[in-house]
Amino acid sequence: MIVSPRGVQSEIEAIDLSESAFELISRTLKEKTGICLYEGAERLVVSRLSRFLKPLNFTTFEEYLQYALSPPGVSELEQMINALTTNTTRFFRERGHFDILENQVMPRLVEKAKNGERIRIWSAACSSGEEVYSIAAIVLKCLPNAADYDFRILATDIDSNILEEAEAGLYRISALEDVPPGYAEFIFDKDQSGEVLKVRPEARDLISFRYLNFMDPWPVSGPFDVIFCRNVTIYMDEETQMRIWVGLENVLHTEGFLFIGHSERIGPSLSSRLELFGPTAFRRPTKIGLSSASAMEKKNVTSQYT
Ligand SMILES: C[S@@+](CC[C@H](N)C(=O)[O-])C[C@H]1O[C@@H](n2cnc3c(N)ncnc32)[C@H](O)[C@@H]1O
Repeated sequence: MIVSPRGVQSEIEAIDLSESAFELISRTLKEKTGICLYEGAERLVVSRLSRFLKPLNFTTFEEYLQYALSPPGVSELEQMINALTTNTTRFFRERGHFDILENQVMPRLVEKAKNGERIRIWSAACSSGEEVYSIAAIVLKCLPNAADYDFRILATDIDSNILEEAEAGLYRISALEDVPPGYAEFIFDKDQSGEVLKVRPEARDLISFRYLNFMDPWPVSGPFDVIFCRNVTIYMDEETQMRIWVGLENVLHTEGFLFIGHSERIGPSLSSRLELFGPTAFRRPTKIGLSSASAMEKKNVTSQYT
């Protein structure tokens, strides 16, 4: 018996993983996603990938990988990557960020929106949607008719399965335990008689869900007034983290806000370009030009999503 990615026990036979197959999986994952598997992650790989082999009639990970890395295996590779991402999240995770958003950021954004300006928020690496629906709750609390303005929220992730879940907007009743009093009504439909919570159309319709892999060119142009990019770079090496922070800074509006995870660091070169605004919350100051690094990144930026 092994444990599936969502923690549900299933009767799938664990398959032996050789050292070379583990190395190839680690290398492939790092190259495609930036995620570094930690030493000793063999058990995790076996528990998350074994279920894929039998339906394809493979008995070894070598055979499976050979297929996943061949042209006909493209969608298998996608499923393999989906299975190896870690999607832990919850509503109002790291609550202090949402207090800053509500009390210090939203008053400016409401004013801008009412002046006819364009407002864009990005939940980068949104996982199953709890983060972005928490953001939408604050937006609707502060600006109930946000849909009447040029106010949009982009939510992206590399994991195509988890994005579908996010977009569906269905959650267990127990998720309410994470929602502070006074916010659930902005996220969920009033009729909560069933076993499942359903996201309100007013929150859902503010958001566009899209696939985005930080390791590929980013189909976004910004500028974003607010970016949440939390708890994703913790799985990456320093060089990849730096690339992501520089890319995010590049699409951040002047005076825009960047929120990162509490155990993440933006590094010294960006610390001089972003002002600390609160714990792991940053603001791009007015008087700053594009660094050569940012200018280089800009070449990769297109405007598909905004
Ligand atoms: C731990 S979750 C964080 C969710 C949310 N931001 C939070 O803090 O609660 C990390 C997410 O990053 C996504 N991810 C991992 N590598 C990525 C990449 N290269 N590009 C985009 N998203 C990635 C995963 O699929 C996963 O959903």
